[in-house]
Order: sequence, then structure tokens, then C-alpha cells
Amino acid sequence: MSQIKKIGVIGGGNMGSGIAQKIAQEGIPVVMVDLKEEFVQRGLGTIRRLLQEGVERKIFKPEQVDQILSRINGTTDFKAVADADIVIEAVFEDKQVKTDLFKKLDQICSPRTILATNTSSFFVREFAEMTSRPDRFVGLHYFYHPAKNRLLEVIPHSRTSPGTLEKSLLAAKLHGKTAIVVKDAPGFAVNRFFVPFLNEAARMLEEKIADIPTIEEAGKRAFKIGMGPFQLMNVTGIPIAVHAATTLGNELGPFYAPAPILKAQMKKKQNWNLEGAVDETKVQAAVDRFHGVCLGVAAALVDEGVASIEDTDRGAKIGLRWVMGPFEIMNKIGMARTYGAVQAICRRYPDFKMPAILEKQHRLGKPFEFSFVDLEIKNDVAWITLNRPEAMNALNETVVAQLDRRFAEAEADARVRGVVFRGAGKAFVAGADIRYFVEKIKAGRIPDIVAFTRRGHELLLRIEESRKLTIALLDGLSLGGGSELALACQAIIATPPGSMAFPETGIGIYPGLGGMLRLARQLGPALAKYFAFTGAPISAADAQALGIATRLVEPAAVGAAVQSLISGSKPDKYRARDIPQKFRAFADLFGPGSVNLLLSGRSPAGANAELTGKVAKTLGYKAPLALRMANEIVDRQTGLPMREAVEVELGRLKDIFSTADALEGLSSVGRRRPEFKGA
Ligand SMILES: NC(=O)c1ccc[n+]([C@@H]2O[C@H](COP(=O)([O-])OP(=O)(O)OC[C@H]3O[C@@H](n4cnc5c(N)ncnc54)[C@H](O)[C@@H]3O)[C@@H](O)[C@H]2O)c1
Repeated sequence: MSQIKKIGVIGGGNMGSGIAQKIAQEGIPVVMVDLKEEFVQRGLGTIRRLLQEGVERKIFKPEQVDQILSRINGTTDFKAVADADIVIEAVFEDKQVKTDLFKKLDQICSPRTILATNTSSFFVREFAEMTSRPDRFVGLHYFYHPAKNRLLEVIPHSRTSPGTLEKSLLAAKLHGKTAIVVKDAPGFAVNRFFVPFLNEAARMLEEKIADIPTIEEAGKRAFKIGMGPFQLMNVTGIPIAVHAATTLGNELGPFYAPAPILKAQMKKKQNWNLEGAVDETKVQAAVDRFHGVCLGVAAALVDEGVASIEDTDRGAKIGLRWVMGPFEIMNKIGMARTYGAVQAICRRYPDFKMPAILEKQHRLGKPFEFSFVDLEIKNDVAWITLNRPEAMNALNETVVAQLDRRFAEAEADARVRGVVFRGAGKAFVAGADIRYFVEKIKAGRIPDIVAFTRRGHELLLRIEESRKLTIALLDGLSLGGGSELALACQAIIATPPGSMAFPETGIGIYPGLGGMLRLARQLGPALAKYFAFTGAPISAADAQALGIATRLVEPAAVGAAVQSLISGSKPDKYRARDIPQKFRAFADLFGPGSVNLLLSGRSPAGANAELTGKVAKTLGYKAPLALRMANEIVDRQTGLPMREAVEVELGRLKDIFSTADALEGLSSVGRRRPEFKGA
């Protein structure tokens, strides 16, 4: 794996300028090329305007905008991309234009440069074959607006090399994209079911099943989205919908071909008129049609091996902002209803056949099972990926059970010397699923939380004590349970965006998966209390300085760091260490003589007044009971053997989750600042 130091983008239009902007936002130098200086300036102007809006909405500081812009080189000189690691084409959707461009890029670019197309309607292989480097050619299909929409379909064609795919996925990660790997097939994954969604709306209108406002409402209800199909077409352009449906129809048959009324509307050059009242009596029939079409097509594309069920759902949720993916909807409405809705579509359109996986699942009469944890064994390393990027890989019962199974498989494999845990997408693991806790508390099922946490502890102890070397790849944000998973590993490889934090006491609970325990064994109880009580983040650099991170490397050097760790002797994460100067004042403040004073709102004698004031203010936002319980747990755990110490923190779970503050804190997440009552 080599580093991504520079990316080229060809075309400074809607997509090209957005792609270049996102790459620069994430810290990577980018060259944006267009045919004429005025087009380059237009692209740069769009980027400046969007960044300025970001400043107004407090997403960026003005100085950040200057830095981002300084990373973008807008030019008409194609030679400026000659040494780029990847060049992404985003020019007109015209076969000849793209073919000529790729031939030219093939001549100009270094042999190691990967060429990528953002085409929506052509096969990736068609352009790859026009170059001398089909193995270093890939599809990167972005979604509008590419600086805001996180989804990226990564499309290897039959001759894309594994190294090219790996580097493309690294590039995706480095510019903040959630990648799904999709086969080089018409419409790739998302447009394959999204375009028929639009088309079916037009067909229902044509058949006079209902009027526009009613069909529009049905589309919104079917997928819990803010804009229905007609409004979406008005916003993105009816010609784009016609063009996309025509391409799908040509490749896949009449079921996908555009409805005549859609083409007529395009010819009229008018938007759909959305005015009018919804006819409630007709909504359900339209919802069923939408379900039949979209769920049926989603199942068909999985049948054909275009994408996995999890990635298809991810595509819908991240790319289209559906609340649930097609397969999650199937599980929710049940297999019988799903099958019935798709069967009605098969009857209506004879060239659309019932997908085999639906046939099978219907026969089984069971919901689909999703896989959120992937295991890949490469030589002597097992890579375990928590793959739920749409929820920042949060831990819930299913994820923990799958993690347990995958780890057992990796441990049982004699070839494996090291097991690496990593998160898909930008984050490592953003803690436990808060919704799960809230639901259990409300249902009076706190013992389920205790049992779930116990299973988590057992898994973390196995990870900590494994004979294989267990490594956390902390290459993004981690919170709570995610940081605790990392701390349980025998080694941590961090990259600069990696971080840890313990926000629990701020939401009414305490870190319950051994985070305080393991931090205390590494840094001493006082600093463990500081991090757990204040929620102060630990950056990758701090983690290294504190000796929590075994290595701090650039993303491209992760593979080498893993190899070097598994070929050396096992690191001892609980070795004695010196605490860096900048943390010593915190350790003093949270030491045995002062922490109780601090928690009761008093100032420890001799402490730095400014620091104490700041810390006291932070603690003022936390749940007092959670703080007191956490304090007591750390004290009681000191000096105990590991398993007994684990029992200490398991022993208080029922008490903490029974507090009113726990329910208040957990329910407030993402909504408002909680108000703790100390009860
Ligand atoms: N708009 C979307 O929602 C969307 C989504 C995914 C993919 N795409 C694909 O992205 C591509 C670009 O779409 P867009 O909406 O940004 O188009 P656009 O018309 O806004 O921009 C295209 C830009 O490419 C430039 N260009 C044309 N030929 C060129 C060449 N030979 N060399 C350099 N620059 C050249 C043009 O001057 C223009 O600035 C298309 O292939 C499209 O299918 C679009």
C-alpha cells in the first residue's frame, strides 16, 4: 500500500468541483483540470461559495477555508496530474469525450497512477480497455452533492488488480467516504433501484392509479424520505431520469425502460406540478407498488452478485438518505408482504422475474440476517472489520455476537499470528448503541443490559489474553465501548485521525466495558479518573505519548506496522511508564487527596485555580451519581485481579441504569443537553 499524496480531478462542473472540494477538505492536495480557464474559475467559484456557506453555518473557520483552498490547484494544464496517485474523471457523460480523455491521461500519467471514472451510465470496463493500464483502472461513482454525500460506489471491473482496489478503498477512506464495493453492472447498485423508483411513479401517473401529490406522498411514506419521486426529478432534472432509465432499459430490458409520460414531460421542458391534495384512499396501493419495484430490484441485484445485502442497504441509507435500507424494510414489513408486493410486479412486467433470494427467504419464512462484522485472513493476519459505518460501527447485541464468532474463527486458524480490529468508514467504533439501552430501560429489561455487558467483557478478556497478537487499528474516532475495545487489545496502532474518549458520565452512566480499569492499569487511577470523568478526548499523538498507542503511523504504513508488531515479542501494555508533563497536573487533581473534594464541588488546597475551575465546570455538566459510582469503582478495582475487577463494574450496572439520570442522559443524545437531577 502506498500513500495518497495527490489526487487529480478532471472536470470542474457540478461533480468535479464537489469531489475536489471534499478531497481538499480532508487534507489531500488536489488538482482540478477543466478545458478552459473560465470553467476552472467557475468550479473554484462554486467551491468558494460552498465553503463560505460552511463558515456561515459554523462548519468551518475562515482560516480553515484558506487552508482548504490552498490545497486545490485549478488549471487547464493536464500535465499537472501526471504524478497524481489517482485521477478521477468527472467530465460530460459522453462516451467519446471520456474515451479521448482516458487515452490522453494514459499517455500523460505516471505508470503507477490509477485512473478512475465517475460515469453513471457506461461500463467501467469500456474505458479501462481503451488504456494500457486496465489493471490500474476503477470506477468511483459519487453521489450528489459529492462534498456532502458520504457514499462512494467503488467499482472494480474484471481486470482491476487487487492492489488498485485496495488503494481506491484507502483513497475513499482518506477523503471521508463510506465505500461500498459494487460490480461493473448497469446502474451499479443504488441507481439500479433508485431510477425504477422514479420511473414507477411516472407509470402510476400514466395508468391513473393516483395523481401526483398522492403518488408523491406514497413515495415518501414507502421509504421515509423528505422528497418524493416527482420533487426529486424536479430538483435533479427530468432529462437525467429519462437518460438513466433509457440506459438501464437498453441493458436490462423493458421493465427498466422510461415510461412514455416521463419522456413526454422531458420534451415539454417543464417540471412536474406537485400542487394538490393527497387522496388517502389511494396511498397504500402506491406504497405497495413502490415496495414491489424497489425491494424486488434490490433483491435482483444481490442475486446477480452486484452488491451484498448490507452494502445495498448502506447505499440506500447513506446515498439516498432512506431511514431503512431495502432489506431492512423487507424484514420490517415481513417476507409474506414483501413477496406479495414483488409478485405483483412480476405479473405486471413479464420480463421481471422473482429473484431467487426472495424465493428462498419466503420459503424459509424468516427475516434476512445481516453481517456487520467481516473477517478476512491475509497470510498470517486476520482483519476483523466492524462494518456498520452508517451507525459509526456502534456495538449492539448482533454486532457483539458476530464479533465474538469472527474472533473465534480467527483464533482457531493456525496460520493467523495477529488479529487486527478495525472499523469501516471514518470512525473506529462510536461506542454502544444508545437506542438499545433506552429501549431496554423503558421496557424494564435492565438485566438484558447487564447480560449483554457481561458477554462483552468475556469477549474483551479473550481478546486481551489471546495467544495471537490482538491489535486495534485506531484510525478514526472511538468513543466509550469502542475505546474500551481498543484498550482491551494487546496493541494499538493509531493513525493521526485516531482518538479515544469516554463520554459516559455526561450521559448518566459510567464506562462499563473495562475502560476505566484498563486505563487505570496503564496510567494509574488518577489519570483514568480524569479521562473517564471529564470525557476529555485522547488524540492519537497523546495516546502515543501516554504509551496507550503502541505505534503512531500514517495510514499507508499500517500494513508494515502490523507486520513489525507480529514479528516482534508481544508488547506489554501494562508496563510501568512515565506520565508526560502535560498530564501530571490532571493526575494530581484527580489523585486520592483531591478527587473527592473536586466531586463535592470544593477546590483542593494548593491546586492551580484556573485548571480547577475549568475541570469543575466540565464536571458540572456530568451526572453526579455516575461520577460518584465511577470514582468508587476505580478505587475498588485497584489491586484486584482482572476478572474480579470486572465483576466490580458489572456489579453496579443495574444500579446505574436504574437511575432517572441514566434515562435522561441516554435519551438526550443527539437532541439536547441533559438535565441531571442526581437521582
Ligand atoms: N450530477 C450527478 O448527480 C452525478 C452523479 C454521479 C455521477 N455523475 C457523472 O459525473 C460526470 C460529470 O457530471 P457533472 O454533473 O459534473 O457535469 P457538468 O456538466 O456539470 O461538468 C462537466 C465538466 O467537465 C468539463 N469537461 C468536459 N470535457 C472535458 C475534458 N475533455 N477535459 C476536461 N474537462 C472537461 C466541462 O467543461 C464541465 O465543467 C458525468 O459523467 C456524470 O454522469 C453525475
